Amino acid sequence: MADEKLHIIPHDHIIDRLAHNQQNGHRSFVVWFVGLSGSGKSTLAGKLEEQLHKDGVRTYILDGDNIRSGLNKDLDFSAESRSENIRRIAEVSKLFVDSGTVVLTAFISPFKEDRDKVREIVGADSLIEVYVDCPIEVCEERDVKGLYKKARAGEISNFTGISSPFEIPENPDLTVNTAESDLEDGVKYLVKEIEARLALSE
Ligand code: ADX
Repeated sequence: MADEKLHIIPHDHIIDRLAHNQQNGHRSFVVWFVGLSGSGKSTLAGKLEEQLHKDGVRTYILDGDNIRSGLNKDLDFSAESRSENIRRIAEVSKLFVDSGTVVLTAFISPFKEDRDKVREIVGADSLIEVYVDCPIEVCEERDVKGLYKKARAGEISNFTGISSPFEIPENPDLTVNTAESDLEDGVKYLVKEIEARLALSE
């Protein structure tokens, strides 16, 4: 669609998503992990990627460290900034999907409205939302980065689950509970579910 005010007219390139997918021998889509800080999003994404990579799948992980220290380093943790954070990641993910890559994203993504927008941007048939379910008590006990302690002490404001809300996904495509089940079982489940979605249609 052309933007008339800005005179922007997207170009349809010859080597499109389908061409990339055919060369790679698999579909491309986004696996979007949602969950509290410390729930295990990055760990699961990393383990899933390891297996997919071994199996010859083109993958790329987008997570807080590589995005918030570069592309999104101008954003803080206000509700507005989180929305913009998620919006930009969705747009970047869309480009990666177009390039034939299976994108794994690990962001808290606490707001339903923003997650709905992700689905709009990426396209429902190119998005697999994975809820990494873990009670805040467990995340807080793990406190891998020591941030819950700081948030409780009032040293970090707008901390998700403490001073900023986390809206639980109502209808995720997949759910992994990292408090009750083994990490390895969770990874196995995800590998099976994701690999089942890689086949190109005839
Ligand atoms: S999101 O809410 O915008 O999706 P994102 O996943 O990018 O968050 O970043 C979350 C990570 O930033 C956390 O895992 C934690 O390491 C760090 N962080 C720093 N401040 C906060 C905060 N106020 N709330 C949540 N996470 C924070």
